[in-house]
Amino acid sequence: MSIFSRIFNAKKQENHSLEEGFSAGQYKIPHHLAIIMDGNGRWAKKRHLPRVAGHKEGMETVKKVTKLANAAGINVLTVYAFSTENWSRPNDEVSFLMKLPVTFFDTFVPELIEQNVRVATIGDIDRLPETTKQAVLDAKEKTAQNTGLILNFALNYGGQQEIVDAARELAREVAAGDRLIEQIDRDSLAERLTTGFLGQYANPDLIVRTSGEERLSNFLPYQAAYSELYFTDVFWPDFDKADFEAALAAYTKRDRRFGNVKA
Ligand code: FPP
Repeated sequence: MSIFSRIFNAKKQENHSLEEGFSAGQYKIPHHLAIIMDGNGRWAKKRHLPRVAGHKEGMETVKKVTKLANAAGINVLTVYAFSTENWSRPNDEVSFLMKLPVTFFDTFVPELIEQNVRVATIGDIDRLPETTKQAVLDAKEKTAQNTGLILNFALNYGGQQEIVDAARELAREVAAGDRLIEQIDRDSLAERLTTGFLGQYANPDLIVRTSGEERLSNFLPYQAAYSELYFTDVFWPDFDKADFEAALAAYTKRDRRFGNVKA
C-alpha cells in the first residue's frame, strides 16, 4: 500500500470512529457549548516558546474542536477568543491575536463551508483593526447560508458591558415612551444582549474552561445563570478529542434542575 493510501485510509478510519463514537448516543449533547480557551501562554512557556506560539497552536485546537462539535451535533459553539480586558496585554501579543482571525479564516473558511458551519460573533467587532474586522465580516458573509453548527467567536467581548448596553437600550425605549418599565423583563433584556440572535440557544448548556482556572472572567455572565461548568487542567493547545469527550461525559452525568426539584 502506498504512503498516500495509508494516510488516506488512516484519515477515513479516524473520521469514521469519531462519528461512530458520537452516533452511538453515549453522551447527552449540549445545544450550546461555550469554551474559555485558557492556558496558551503557559503551554508555550513550558516549551520555552514565545507566548504567541501558544495562541497559534490554540487556533489549531479551535479548528479541531469545531469539527468535533459539528460531528457531535452541537448547535452552537462559542469560543472566548478576545475579551475587552485583553487590550491591556503587551502590544505585540495584542497585534498577534488580532491577526489570528485573518489566518484562521484564510485557511479554514472552505472547510467551514464544506462542513455547513456558520460563523458568527458576539462582542464589539467595530473596534477591531480594519483587516481583522473585514476577515470576520467576510467569513460571516461566506458562511451565512450554512445551516449546521454556529461557530460563534467572542471577540472584543465583555459580559458586564453587554448587560449595561442592553439596559441602556431599554432605558432609551422607556424614555422615548415606547416601553413601560413593567415591560422590562428577562426576555426583553436577553433579546438585547449580543447573544440575542441565537434565540432558544442563547444560554450555554455547558461552559468548559481549560488550564485549571475556575472562574468565568466576564464571559456570558447573564447567559451562564444555569450553565453547567466544567474545568480541566489541560492547556487549551493540548485539548483533544479525549478531553472533548471527557467534558461531554461529565455533562451527561449532570442533573440539570433549573431551580426545580427532580421529577
Ligand atoms: C488565554 O490564554 C487565551 C487567549 C486570551 C486567546 C485565545 C485565543 C485563541 C485560542 C486563538 C483564537 C483563534 C481565533 C481564530 C481567533 P492565556 O494567554 O491567558 O494563557 P495563560 O493564562 O497561560 O497565560
